[in-house]
Amino acid sequence: MSSHNWSTSDIPDLSGKTIIITGANSGLGLEATKAFAVKNAKVIMACRTVSKGELAKAQIIETYPAADITVVRLDLSDLTSVHSFSTKMKQSQTRLDVLLNNAGIMMVPYGQTVDGFEKQIGTNHLGHFALTGLLLELLKKTPGSRVVNVSSMAHKSGVMDFNNLLYDNGKDYSPMKAYGRSKLCNLLFTYELQRYFEANKIDCKALAAHPGFSDTNLFVHMATKWIIGLFKPLLSLIIQPASMGTLPELRASVDPNAKGGEFYGPDGRQELKGYPVVVQPKRTALDKESARKLREISEKLTDIKYT
Ligand SMILES: NC(=O)c1ccc[n+]([C@@H]2O[C@H](COP(=O)([O-])OP(=O)(O)OC[C@H]3O[C@@H](n4cnc5c(N)ncnc54)[C@H](OP(=O)(O)O)[C@@H]3O)[C@@H](O)[C@H]2O)c1
Repeated sequence: MSSHNWSTSDIPDLSGKTIIITGANSGLGLEATKAFAVKNAKVIMACRTVSKGELAKAQIIETYPAADITVVRLDLSDLTSVHSFSTKMKQSQTRLDVLLNNAGIMMVPYGQTVDGFEKQIGTNHLGHFALTGLLLELLKKTPGSRVVNVSSMAHKSGVMDFNNLLYDNGKDYSPMKAYGRSKLCNLLFTYELQRYFEANKIDCKALAAHPGFSDTNLFVHMATKWIIGLFKPLLSLIIQPASMGTLPELRASVDPNAKGGEFYGPDGRQELKGYPVVVQPKRTALDKESARKLREISEKLTDIKYT
């Protein structure tokens, strides 16, 4: 096995490639935007708040004036917004090399998306499921395209319950349980999508990645954020900078040797930090029957069919 530490210097030249990144204005998505723009990709920052995206873009342009970046509004917690974003993409773009489904929220109190879905599963899974389905046309047109879903080690605590997938009316809800389930959904969806591409002989790959434990804005909504503040000095021993945390999703997106169905994460102890390598999900994430059911329910809820 090679002991080479894969890093941004391994990213090939991306001239002529178009990459969409969700949640591109902050944390891992922002680091990914920089890394791809520097390698000459056309990057579309899909952000729920355009002003935040424009600010992030301006900062990148200051350092890399040649960066080709466009900010477009996308709110994954609102299917109307997902439709409108996808329509804009289909009208303005002729190809889509990488769809990096990176955006996410974590451990928020019970709430619902505009369409009435529990917020974490609605945003982290259903929003991306709908987006990917609507962008299939562009992905299919682009030889060797990829979809990369960003999961988490928290998928290991996730449990599927198809009788109450969305914690209806808050029944049995806990912020951690719902986050874990949403991240398990990201993996089930990835493997199901890869099977869909293979069965239909579509030249597109589905991969997943997780960033270990990375210093981003993700923790700001946690009820326990005071604990994070209290233990910050201790946490700094295990937490890695966002620029390292983004490496698994970068590798899954552009390493020419990466294969469909692979899951990338950090190589350090308990996958908390380190350089990106292929890692293994928990066994239930590979369950085909759960993945099939999730696809069926997701198609029904979003009214978007993978044909
Ligand atoms: N950081 C970690 O240690 C860690 C660990 C495991 C997994 N992850 C995963 O990594 C991914 C990136 O998170 P991060 O750590 O970089 O956190 P972050 O800094 O909070 O970034 C999350 C991004 O998602 C966007 N977003 C949230 N809700 C959205 C919506 N409804 N529509 C569109 N965009 C939305 C946020 O936009 P706003 O700026 O407008 O809020 C932000 O740009 C997430 O999927 C997360 O689950 C992170």
